[in-house]
Amino acid sequence: MKITYYGHSCLLVEHDGARVIIDPFLSGNPASGISPQDVKVDAVILTHAHDDHFGDTLLIAEQNDCPVIATFELATYCEQRGVRAHAMNTGGAHQFAQFAVKFTPAFHTSSLRVGDQFLYAGEPVGVILTMGETVLYHAGDTALFGDMKLIGERHDIDVAALPIGDNYTMGPDDALVAAQWVKAKHVIPIHYNTFPAIEQDAALFKQNVEKNGAICHPLANGESVTISK
Ligand code: NI
Ligand code: MN
Repeated sequence: MKITYYGHSCLLVEHDGARVIIDPFLSGNPASGISPQDVKVDAVILTHAHDDHFGDTLLIAEQNDCPVIATFELATYCEQRGVRAHAMNTGGAHQFAQFAVKFTPAFHTSSLRVGDQFLYAGEPVGVILTMGETVLYHAGDTALFGDMKLIGERHDIDVAALPIGDNYTMGPDDALVAAQWVKAKHVIPIHYNTFPAIEQDAALFKQNVEKNGAICHPLANGESVTISK
């Protein structure tokens, strides 16, 4: 499984010709390292509806004629906006042609801003994405929660993408515990350094993760890592 980081919480995940993108916040993030027009994928997967995750979803789904995989409310919203979608919900798994997706709980909020209002967009989720033999857990935006232990027990997580920014999600100390609880062999820090409120020292986080025996990959925007079972 090849994983490319495009800043904030966006990962492009590839295996054997299949390509999916998670949380494509690209044109809103000048440092993402890619233009949404250049994204070629078979699916967009969303953890929740906030702008810094939904991002360029509609444009990417439209230009690739590919589905948006999201919770029921958010998937339905995407369909209403004219793109294909596949609705799922927390705890559910689905085998697609080239990969499998399962949604996990995440402790956060999820809504779409429409003018002065916030539209309910379902609950936020984490994503377990299996491509070939390799299993990625993208935690989405979340607090640390005890059932991450259950995620680690029920799934053989090869690589966990964990938010470390603090303020809106768990910070580095809680993410260190999350990495242990999900028993990830590899850890990719996400959701940090995009805005002043979430500035973090990824080198220090890497040191602490590696003291616990996992391998940490703080990726520059546009940088890739290949992880196998
Ligand atoms: Ni959020
Ligand atoms: Mn966020």
